[in-house]
Amino acid sequence: MTINISVAPMMDWTDRHCRYFMRLLSPSVFLYTEMVTAAAIYHGDSDRFLRFNDEEHPLALQLGGSDPKWMASAASKAHDYKYDEININVGCPSDKVQSGQFGACLMATPDTVAECYRAMKDITDIPITVKTRIGIDNLDSYEFLVNFIEPLIDAGCRKFIIHARIAVLDGLSPKENRMVPALNYNRVYRLKHDFPDLEIVINGGLTDITQVEHVLQHLDGAMIGRQAYYQPYFLAELEQYFNPQSALPDRRDIVEQMLPYIDEVIQYGEPIGRVTRHMLGLYAGQPGARKWRRSISENAHRKGAGVEILIDALNAMSIAA
Ligand SMILES: Cc1cc2nc3c(=O)[nH]c(=O)nc-3n(C[C@H](O)[C@H](O)[C@H](O)COP(=O)(O)O)c2cc1C
Repeated sequence: MTINISVAPMMDWTDRHCRYFMRLLSPSVFLYTEMVTAAAIYHGDSDRFLRFNDEEHPLALQLGGSDPKWMASAASKAHDYKYDEININVGCPSDKVQSGQFGACLMATPDTVAECYRAMKDITDIPITVKTRIGIDNLDSYEFLVNFIEPLIDAGCRKFIIHARIAVLDGLSPKENRMVPALNYNRVYRLKHDFPDLEIVINGGLTDITQVEHVLQHLDGAMIGRQAYYQPYFLAELEQYFNPQSALPDRRDIVEQMLPYIDEVIQYGEPIGRVTRHMLGLYAGQPGARKWRRSISENAHRKGAGVEILIDALNAMSIAA
């Protein structure tokens, strides 16, 4: 059974450790990598950016870039690594991204994105999708959004993930750009109404099951960002709600299932904190949540810290409760 819910690509957050943890909470949610630039894959140690654990499937690689040659080369690598989807980032508003000519600023040059799309499609049969905004700066109209997607439809794109607010490229930080201006779900609903054959996934501000259920009445999928990170157990609740055969997992079992994984990560020389930082929200809203966070945060950075710090955190919590 698959559910039409995905976890958003989030730089510095949805790395492979985070995704392994999220997968334990939800067997079927679709996961996205952090954005990787096509240039980094082209010039750098691509395995560092591309490797993942088999358990993470279904998994999409998100790429940033606007050079068809580099994007095609990155797509070819994604093919070899057996990603389930490749997603082009046309939504990120940061300065760094704009100077590299990718991200949300590319909404103004749809033919460039379509050219990348075609070059990638020639290389692989993995579905290629686009994540975008509903507009940028003063280009804030339904017609602008349609003008952006039409060349991509011609190039073969059938799935769009739409963060339902415009990106303000001048004057707002990336963080501010995730809070203002207001979300406009209606523009996304209208797009689906006018292009019923496209798969339209909505993103932005989804924090509870009722909201998700509501948007799914209009659209094909819902993508969750911050809520999935701050309150990862939300993913288990979504899984259970939309896939009622699955039982809600016990949080302690999830922690126990993480232990062998973390042991292996440590054996490969990575500090435990690289994994445990993603687990801090596991008990959000539960009794003892603060003890859990504090115990891990205080102990994870200690030299030689191992999985016992998670057992200690569980114990600290049950003493507190
Ligand atoms: C820490 C962080 C990093 C992000 N990095 C990316 C990224 O690499 N690529 C991308 O397309 N969007 C990125 N985003 C935006 C999210 O994918 C998503 O569109 C946004 O958070 C709105 O969804 P939400 O309201 O459910 O959080 C990031 C968001 C956050 C909070």
